[in-house]
Amino acid sequence: MIQIKDNVFLLKNSNISYMFRATGSGNLEHLHFGAPVDIDDVDAFAVRYGAGWGSTGGPEGEEFPMYLPLEWSSLGRGDYRESPLEIDREIPAAFKYSFCRKFDHTVSMDCSLPQAHGDAETLEIVMSSPSKLSLHLFYTIFDTAITRRVVLHNETGRSINVEKIMSSMMDIQGDYEITTYNGAWIAEMQPYRAPVGMSGIVNESTTGFSSALHNPGFILNEPGATETDGVVMGFNLIYSGNHYSRIQKSNEGLVRIVQGISPVSFDWILGNGEKFETPEAVMVWSGTGFGGMSLAMHRFVNENIIPGYWKGRQRPVLYNDWEGCMFNFNESKLISLAKKAKELGCELFVLDDGWFGDRNSDKAGLGDYDVNRKKLPGGLSGLQAKLSGLGLDFGLWFEPEAVNPDSKLYRAHPDWAIQAEDGVTVLGRNELLLDLSRPEVRDYIVNNVSRCIEEGKVSYVKWDMNRHSTALGASAHRYILGLYDVLKRVFGPRPEVLLESCSSGGNRFDLGMLCFSPQIWASDNTDAIERCRIQYQLSYLYPLSTIGAHVSAAPHSQTLRDTPLSTRGNISFFGLLGYEFDLDDLTPVEKDEIKNQILFYKQYRDIFQFGDFRRLKAPEGISMQVSDGDVHIVGLFHELVHAAPGYERIYPRGLKRETVYNVLSRKQLLNAAKFGGLLRFVLPVKLKPDGPLVRAAGKQYRMKDAERECDATGAALMSGMTLNARFMGTGYDPGMRMQGDFSSNIYVITAEGT
Ligand code: DGJ
Repeated sequence: MIQIKDNVFLLKNSNISYMFRATGSGNLEHLHFGAPVDIDDVDAFAVRYGAGWGSTGGPEGEEFPMYLPLEWSSLGRGDYRESPLEIDREIPAAFKYSFCRKFDHTVSMDCSLPQAHGDAETLEIVMSSPSKLSLHLFYTIFDTAITRRVVLHNETGRSINVEKIMSSMMDIQGDYEITTYNGAWIAEMQPYRAPVGMSGIVNESTTGFSSALHNPGFILNEPGATETDGVVMGFNLIYSGNHYSRIQKSNEGLVRIVQGISPVSFDWILGNGEKFETPEAVMVWSGTGFGGMSLAMHRFVNENIIPGYWKGRQRPVLYNDWEGCMFNFNESKLISLAKKAKELGCELFVLDDGWFGDRNSDKAGLGDYDVNRKKLPGGLSGLQAKLSGLGLDFGLWFEPEAVNPDSKLYRAHPDWAIQAEDGVTVLGRNELLLDLSRPEVRDYIVNNVSRCIEEGKVSYVKWDMNRHSTALGASAHRYILGLYDVLKRVFGPRPEVLLESCSSGGNRFDLGMLCFSPQIWASDNTDAIERCRIQYQLSYLYPLSTIGAHVSAAPHSQTLRDTPLSTRGNISFFGLLGYEFDLDDLTPVEKDEIKNQILFYKQYRDIFQFGDFRRLKAPEGISMQVSDGDVHIVGLFHELVHAAPGYERIYPRGLKRETVYNVLSRKQLLNAAKFGGLLRFVLPVKLKPDGPLVRAAGKQYRMKDAERECDATGAALMSGMTLNARFMGTGYDPGMRMQGDFSSNIYVITAEGT
């Protein structure tokens, strides 16, 4: 709902209110972002200067912009805090409120930037300046979030240089801590938390893309906020390019938050009569801690970001050949893998890199689309026919934005590649980026990718991008607009093709890509234990339905960690389950175990992918819960175990206090060989720990891991359900949790009678 009264503007839904007003002198004063309030509450929020501070400055007869909580600030009017707009100095850009418009829907942009969609109301605030520049501030309120964006119109009679333009700015009051998510390739989403002080904190990416270095999403919380209590706000940007946010507190306790495109090398020439549209910034507010904030973000992404066809639609369990084969495969190897994948329960077979041109390593072939007939004699259609005969859908990998200098495309069109301005070729993974701001380059990509999708009746595309570049400079934004144009043209006419975007793993995990790709490959770090942390951190801002998380081989290729298969599965459940290793290496018991994992995931897939997600108290590890109505699933994950462990509990949330629930552990099995020499204490026969009998037994048999069943009320379970004792070296009992390092358990909690 949007209400307007006496130049006070209120955006409100059942969870949040956002209020501001135009002052008598045309400034926009921010009043409130928080719990629902009424429009007549304005008096509670408006600031009062009293006699004012010492060093004030501002236009005569106006409020002092320096001390006003603002929705937008103009340079040179006495506000010395961060400015959201910087243009040529000779153009006066002091904006005053002019008029507003209300819409009972979202308002579409004219450029190719993606936007949130769905039921919403929009408020447009128009601010004008004497130089005939005008600013249009768009506020859209959805069920769970508010978005903001800005459009700058140039009617000055000349071109202007826009050096910086933010999507949103606001000044809120209070003490906050900020969490940003930083990292690198295979080390995504490392949280950094710090108090917001007067020095300010910048969260910015300048790699040309949203990047794993600094995810565009961030969180502000009141100190002391927990998963369930306290004020927490989530912010994000619907954009995949260079981004910038700065959060800084003023002496008066006003916290300025700006979000938008990074101004580094931005320099956008805006011609007379043209307008510039910024990406949409997103904000959610929760009075129920980090958990409430995440739930709101998850609902917003699932409802208002993900493309319509995939809204609430279950994602398939897939097999991807990359980590099993890399570039080394042929059709018969793929079919052998596909048969096994099908037997295990997979629904989709994804052929990753290496199927085209001279692509036998990452040094050549990128940019070409001719199928490698040595590897695939029947082409894409031949492979698809065989997969379809097995009952599997076909998915295909592309990396359309980049080119290897050793490729037919580069030899034909070297000028299509973006080069550094000094002419020195700088490669990243042996690649250069293609210049997506050029229409002929975009046409080439759209035509080739579309043709391959049709030829192979492809139902899933993995869209990779492994070249990051600061060489994009001022054209970085044009590149991103070009990328969105390409994605619209390829996938707009094919909404049923499931797009999973990827950028050396999670290098472009952002809301812009999610507007086209319902899921994103979380990380090339497929070590389950490492990725559990990445998934856990992603969960703050992104729902599980977006997080591609596959089971990979153990020992793991990056860490050499030998994580039990049960844990590798359990962690992938809290994401989008897939398998990615050579299935020809599986033993009979491993096959059975994977079959059971997939059956279990399919039974609860809707809950894992779209249920309400919670991070739970877990003093000794990580615990997560997904819930839908009367069914709740809790995962408990450990890293290193300690001797003489104490009792351990799970702490589910969101249960009905009076209802009686049944708790059942997911059946898991342990490799007997794990026990080595200890086996002689529990088996009647004497066995050599590394002898052939133990190894053979490990391939054919598994030992039960503690099974647990319990009936209790929601009230009891929520105060902590005590788990079976853990193995502590004093003997074996089939009821104990035989937990070594990197173990985990899953508990399904179902209301009785369901
Ligand atoms: C990087 C991706 O993140 C991997 O999953 C894989 O697709 C490779 N590229 C293929 O080159």
